[in-house]
Amino acid sequence: MLVSATEMLNKARDGHYAVGQFNINNLEWTKAILLTAQELNSPVILGVSEGAGKYMTGYKTVAAMVKAMIETLNITVPVALHLDHGSYEGAKACIEAGFSSIMFDGSHYAIDENVAKTTELVELAHSKGLSIEAEVGSIGGEEDGVIGAGEIADPAECKKIADLGVDFLAAGIGNIHGKYPANWKGLDFEALEKIHEATNGIPLVLHGGTGIPADMIKKAISLGVSKINVNTECQLSFADATRKYIEAGKDLEGKGFDPRKLLAPGFEAIKATVKEKMELFGSVNKA
Ligand code: G3H
Ligand code: ZN
Repeated sequence: MLVSATEMLNKARDGHYAVGQFNINNLEWTKAILLTAQELNSPVILGVSEGAGKYMTGYKTVAAMVKAMIETLNITVPVALHLDHGSYEGAKACIEAGFSSIMFDGSHYAIDENVAKTTELVELAHSKGLSIEAEVGSIGGEEDGVIGAGEIADPAECKKIADLGVDFLAAGIGNIHGKYPANWKGLDFEALEKIHEATNGIPLVLHGGTGIPADMIKKAISLGVSKINVNTECQLSFADATRKYIEAGKDLEGKGFDPRKLLAPGFEAIKATVKEKMELFGSVNKA
């Protein structure tokens, strides 16, 4: 069932768990995530970065694939199709293409321009039944060309953006896209607590979900995080499983080079990663 992410995230906030956003890149990724969500009876958010959208030949193709797959696989758990780190233009294109949720990442604009653009997109998204996420501060590291300085979000700015009517809010709290460096200081829980207090219970979003220790994930959820984004970890497990298949020479045995066989270990690895995350986030049996 393709739905906006508002209801599932409000339920997660009230039930003290988080819903995972897993980024998709192709058919295998999408199918692995949808099947795992259904098997675990968990709500799920499929994230599409602008780069991945282009790679999959555009947002219309993505929306058509996801909708057809939900129907054909008989996926009954709530699924949101969400633009990840969207530009102003990208957000409009996804609303048009049939996504059910968008993120407008206006964190690189001056606050006034971020406010103006967010206000316009909130109205547009809500008028079409979509949910909308905004970002304050920035997520460190790089994801698909989106580079952030890792600036900790200011609680007053978070309140200003939350008050515009966005449905959930990403705040930079020392989180980083990609692998965490060995000298990473950890999440800034003091900042998270202040942001949580300042924003009247809006579901908060934790980006850079790859490699955050379980105890920090639990603490973040206890402080209002209701959506956790994971991308790199699925890519790493897919690559690892595919490498093992090839290094074992399986592609050279019989029809092992058939892409349906070659991609199978990676597909199973994504499923295992998504399962582990859903269990950690507490979203199992919350559909
Ligand atoms: O927007 C998506 C993410 O924040 C994922 O971050 O690649 O570090 O898991 P990650
Ligand atoms: Zn992100």
